[in-house]
Amino acid sequence: MNTSPLVRTGVRFGTALAAAGCMLHAAEKVDVSKLPPPAQQTGVTYEKDIRPIFEKHCFKCHGEEKPKARLRLDSREGVLKGSREGKVIEVGDSARSPLVHSVARLGDEDHWMPPPDKGEPLTPEQIGLIRAWIDQGAR
Ligand code: HEC
Repeated sequence: MNTSPLVRTGVRFGTALAAAGCMLHAAEKVDVSKLPPPAQQTGVTYEKDIRPIFEKHCFKCHGEEKPKARLRLDSREGVLKGSREGKVIEVGDSARSPLVHSVARLGDEDHWMPPPDKGEPLTPEQIGLIRAWIDQGAR
């Protein structure tokens, strides 16, 4: 007996569920006390400090070509615009920014970034810098 069509349907269904799960991230409750603290550095900017981190760890999936979740991280405007689900940062409030939760690997594992099997997690220092950037107004 050949069960492969059934198996394929199962895979597709699983993918659909994973995609639906993404829509919940805005409402997700996370323990923000587990976030690395924002960096002390002042004058943090996208071009100088944040772009290099995203370039190394995120552009592969969130660049110009077929960006995942339609989220582009290769410009400040792209980050502010957000994904197909909406905003990924809350300017001035990094602790409430879904992007920060994703890179700190808090909350639902489906939203951890980069996806655990696809790349190394960001360091607490890098997360702290992203937090400082958002807290300082995402300039
Ligand atoms: C190997 C591919 C890949 C890499 C690398 C990657 N992402 Fe993602 N990202 C995805 C996929 C796929 C989705 C859509 C699924 C989802 O939303 O969980 C996504 C969605 C997101 C979302 C939307 C949250 C959500 O769940 O709707 C954010 C924010 C995000 N990524 C941030 C980042 C950041 C920041 C980096 C780099 C530190 C990064 N991603 C690196 C594949 C990737």
